[in-house]
Amino acid sequence: MKMRFEPARGLSGELRAPADKSISHRAALLGAMSSEPVRIERYLHAADTTSTLEAVRSLGALVEVHGDDLVVRGCGLREAAEPDGPIDVGNSGTLLRLLSGWLASQDERSFTLDGDESIRRRPMDRIVEPLTLMGAELEAADGRFAPLRIRGSRLRAISHEIEVASAQVKSCILLAALAADGATTVGEPTLSRDHTERMLLRAGVSIHRHGRHVTIVNTDELLLDSVRVPGDPSSAAFLVAAGVLVPGSRLLIGDVAANWTRTGFLRIVRRMRGIVLGDLEPGGEELSAEEPVTDLDVAHGALEGTVVEGEEIPLAIDELPLVALLGCFAEGETVVRGAGELRVKETDRIAGVVDGLGALGADIEGSADGFLVRGTGGLRGGTIDARGDHRLAMMGAVAGLASREGVEVVGMEAAAVSYPTFAEDLAALGA
Ligand code: S3P
Repeated sequence: MKMRFEPARGLSGELRAPADKSISHRAALLGAMSSEPVRIERYLHAADTTSTLEAVRSLGALVEVHGDDLVVRGCGLREAAEPDGPIDVGNSGTLLRLLSGWLASQDERSFTLDGDESIRRRPMDRIVEPLTLMGAELEAADGRFAPLRIRGSRLRAISHEIEVASAQVKSCILLAALAADGATTVGEPTLSRDHTERMLLRAGVSIHRHGRHVTIVNTDELLLDSVRVPGDPSSAAFLVAAGVLVPGSRLLIGDVAANWTRTGFLRIVRRMRGIVLGDLEPGGEELSAEEPVTDLDVAHGALEGTVVEGEEIPLAIDELPLVALLGCFAEGETVVRGAGELRVKETDRIAGVVDGLGALGADIEGSADGFLVRGTGGLRGGTIDARGDHRLAMMGAVAGLASREGVEVVGMEAAAVSYPTFAEDLAALGA
């Protein structure tokens, strides 16, 4: 589906970002692992999180949908049923990696997880290795790609260092560790999003963070009565970028998750001198069972280039394409480095951003692990191919609103993976 986004005069109004994708996945999965019903308020109904509901149903959980709220009647931590056929994760790497952790602990049962073309190109060796160390049997195409066949087992607790910071890999190990035979420790080079840890703490699990490490003790059951899903900061980021870039804009975005591990992009925007008011959770806090929220007040203003690297990368990983877009409008250079992970997302997002923004007139160069943008104060416009990637589609749309000549996005339907009402929300703001 092609969709054109014309230069906007000024966006204004108030809306709520869609529900958080990461927290929705986790709520449905932990609900399925619980023995008592779990009520989920404001579940995200989008393609990826619908795949999660289908997956847990196929494992024996009952899911009642009451509009945006759900009740998940789980099968219990050690009681997932063998489904009739392969579990289809669709486009969702989060679902594939997290679910694999739980299923690896289902003693003497076998599961096959598969997904779309994009999923079959994404590396799974990073979960195959630790789950094998824990005692599960896994088979992957060429040792590293979906379809993934898992033969569950009674797992051993391990201590494991993840090479590249990844909440998906960390969460996979933590979920496997719930039914292992002791305390498991996972370390990552720098902190990634911690929703799994928070929700497990809320579910009564003994889990604590010490620096870059998390230690979790095995448990008999999860006691999670309810979860309220806040708005998604990664979806809100597209609205924030639109508000900052389109002259004359003033937007209020309500109920956005303010968890420090998710707000790296907002801190980067502020450093670029973008106007984004809101109460973000401070860093360096102890692990908490809460997911704080904030309202964001965004206004257009001039931007300065910046450098994004190191510990900041995992905290803004899904928003880095937007940093490139902001860089096109900023004064001076904007550099992102140390973000090689972008090459193994839904698409190669370094190539997608560099080719995509380049075609719209940006002065941008790619590198192995990032990009460099020379700000020219604006963007001409043209056509951008979303390459089947929701975040590239939405970046193209925002680029169009802020451009001089408008942008046609080829493949806008990809937005349905995380934010199905994105184009309507922009229209409601005056786009
Ligand atoms: C996610 C973690 C991130 C992120 C993805 C969602 C999650 O991936 O890019 O969109 O919900 O855990 P990695 O953990 O692999 O970096």
